[in-house]
Amino acid sequence: MTDLSEIQAVIDGTVHATTRGALLPLLHELQEAFGFIAPAAVPLIAGALNLSRAEVHGVISFYPDFRTEPPARHVVKLCRAESCQARGGAAIEAALAHRLGVAMGHARKDGQVALEPVYCLGLCAIGPNALVDGRPVARIDGEAAARIASEVEA
Ligand code: FES
Repeated sequence: MTDLSEIQAVIDGTVHATTRGALLPLLHELQEAFGFIAPAAVPLIAGALNLSRAEVHGVISFYPDFRTEPPARHVVKLCRAESCQARGGAAIEAALAHRLGVAMGHARKDGQVALEPVYCLGLCAIGPNALVDGRPVARIDGEAAARIASEVEA
């Protein structure tokens, strides 16, 4: 559980009262400090920047890289952009979701792994592709999906 006073300290250290456009830098700062943006931080951010809670929540939910729950120990980011989709990305997504026991866009309840979307890794010719804890994995097939699942369980 993140302490509200710690969140407020990051907000106070990042926001200068009349700074326009401070929301995104502040959100990045909070995620950097805590690994995620706790829902309890939303009203504090809104108050500091004179925004509505809905505006803050809207920005957090618009950008897929902002997390609202603690990060998993392992993160599998599967490319969902066009070239990887054309190379069987949807089937790989289903296989990974099944093997990892978690739906796309979520972390498993035990915190061991999260499956997240990413949109093009610049490896389009050798897809479907993913990042496993930041390491690129190309040409993912059923066997590769099984290897990824074993790797993140270790
Ligand atoms: S579309 Fe997947 S790496 Fe470019």
